[in-house]
Amino acid sequence: MESWVADIEFERTSLPGRLIKAILVDPLANYLPASLLRGLLRFGKSELAEANWNDPGGWRSMVISYDGRPKQLADKMLVGLGSVPKALRNRRKLASRLLARLIDSAGHEPAHVLCLGAGPGRIIIDAMSQAKRKARATLVDISSEAFDHGRRLAVENGVIEQVNYLQGDARDIDKLLEHRPDIVKMIGICEYLSDEEIVEIVGAVAGVMAPGGSIVFNSLSKAHGSDRFFRRVFGLHMNHRLPDQLKELLSSAGFGEFVAFPEPMGVYQVIVGRRQP
Ligand SMILES: C[S@@+](CC[C@H](N)C(=O)[O-])C[C@H]1O[C@@H](n2cnc3c(N)ncnc32)[C@H](O)[C@@H]1O
Repeated sequence: MESWVADIEFERTSLPGRLIKAILVDPLANYLPASLLRGLLRFGKSELAEANWNDPGGWRSMVISYDGRPKQLADKMLVGLGSVPKALRNRRKLASRLLARLIDSAGHEPAHVLCLGAGPGRIIIDAMSQAKRKARATLVDISSEAFDHGRRLAVENGVIEQVNYLQGDARDIDKLLEHRPDIVKMIGICEYLSDEEIVEIVGAVAGVMAPGGSIVFNSLSKAHGSDRFFRRVFGLHMNHRLPDQLKELLSSAGFGEFVAFPEPMGVYQVIVGRRQP
């Protein structure tokens, strides 16, 4: 599987950039008064900050980070230079490539991919566009706000016939398992769930999947150095978990044979697991 991702061109930060961040940017962002930082972002008309204030960690902030070409100067700095936006774009590349290859190696065509916390579905749409074989995807999100944007992306990428958007809470997983998935995608969602919720969701998924079916999820490290800033200024509270912690949770729910793929910013690992016999 390592060869699947060997040619991906990732974003990185230079050594001087990392030093400036550690010595200057992180201490200021983490410890200046939150009201001052919020005021500066409001003054700079930051769309990324606005998106997080309206819906912390929601789909709009992901679209702004993925796109990487914001209009406002404040966002150009946050999105262009920030560790997390760079790591998010790396995660998108990794996850979409892995999903494309899993679709190509699934036992039958079209493979069914269940995407939990899908937002507009940028990653699975990328994956279906890259895959050689056909897939169909059920995209579940607690909010339906991203679905129109997602359908436009699906039309642009020629996969509109293959996607089905469904408003639902991943925690009500039993209602979402009408069609048996071959692949389950949980990218960008575990950080918003408790351990118990993850085990319950993954256990329900394992109950309907065939042995060998795949699950794709991600860890989140505090290495980005901005957690205090995210909590105080954006109101974004994420659960950081190392790959081993997530593997343990998923093992208890019936998955194993994990392979982890780190991205070079050191923030995320995208992990593939298999339903155990
Ligand atoms: C950070 S975004 C990730 C979007 C997409 N998976 C990606 O990686 O680009 C998290 C998404 O999960 C959704 N979400 C959060 N909690 C959820 C839940 N319990 N059930 C379903 N969706 C949820 C949010 O509405 C949001 O669209």
